[in-house]
Amino acid sequence: MAAEGLSAPGDAADDRQAAFHRRIGAKHLAALWVARRGVDLSKPAAPTAPALWRFAEMRPEIMTAGALIRAEDAFRRVLVLENPAFAGELRATNTLYAGLQLVLPGEIAPCHRHTQTALRFVIEGEGAYSTVDGERTRLHPGDFVVTPQWSWHDHVNEGAGPVIWLDVLDTPLVGFLDTVFRESWTAPLYPVRRPDDTAPALYGAGLVPEGAGPAHDASPVVNYRYATARPALARLAAAGDIDPCHGHRLRYAHPMTGGYATPTMAAFLQALPAGFRGALYRSTDAQIVCVADGSGRTTIGSRTFDWTRGDVFVIPGWHAYAHAADETGAVLFSVSDRAAQEALGLWREDRTA
Ligand SMILES: [Fe+2]
Repeated sequence: MAAEGLSAPGDAADDRQAAFHRRIGAKHLAALWVARRGVDLSKPAAPTAPALWRFAEMRPEIMTAGALIRAEDAFRRVLVLENPAFAGELRATNTLYAGLQLVLPGEIAPCHRHTQTALRFVIEGEGAYSTVDGERTRLHPGDFVVTPQWSWHDHVNEGAGPVIWLDVLDTPLVGFLDTVFRESWTAPLYPVRRPDDTAPALYGAGLVPEGAGPAHDASPVVNYRYATARPALARLAAAGDIDPCHGHRLRYAHPMTGGYATPTMAAFLQALPAGFRGALYRSTDAQIVCVADGSGRTTIGSRTFDWTRGDVFVIPGWHAYAHAADETGAVLFSVSDRAAQEALGLWREDRTA
């Protein structure tokens, strides 16, 4: 023990180090060997938390929001699905935003554009249109709609009942890259410049007009209809094409490149047969999953989430999980940042978890 008034050698070393860190900190420098001490860099930190939002709990709240504020005043009347690990950050996963949007009969969600790419998966309602760069597409439950970055878009509900869909945007990713731009159109609705649903009729059928090139890196299909995708899944099932982890799974493809539907986000539709018990699986992309039909459960680590139609849940990246379906079978829509990860050569999967 040091005599009174003297420092032990260790204390002196600590004092010198503390003084060193203060000094370099003032010069905006940090000691890497200290910052990385005790941090496991052998695998992703995967800070996203497993989470589930029940449609039965969200729907009354979004309908209450419908009574509190008009869509035009809210600009977008959306309840954001905030991951518990990122409270207050408007993030469902580390890179993606998700929200439940309501458009009531007669309402307009006004036209704007932004550098974030947006996806929509329709959960409830008929009679609404989304307009993307001057072309209207009618929305039906189960439809998957792509709004490429920097494309003008608005939504209008001409039906008799509420229309509710899940929005997924790459907002946190685009924000991290500090490439956010946004502007409003001069009127609530963008001028309609082509017949309704021209893009799904052409590009969705694998038909490309002579001389046309993709105006964006995102898919020109605009609306991947459930009325087309669901029978395609049934064909896959009838052909016996099943993955032990994913069941019968289809990727929404860009018809002109074979790549994903958007440059940053990959989307899938998968059918789990009645009584399906999936094998454990993990991949580096955190997934946002919306239950299109049926019911079942997903075990993520030590937690099990029961789900049914309209529910939304998050599977964090590099967390081992397994799907199971009830005797109803199930259809799951999922989206992740896998497109961006693959473009950068970073995506990994593991089927031995
Ligand atoms: Fe938007």
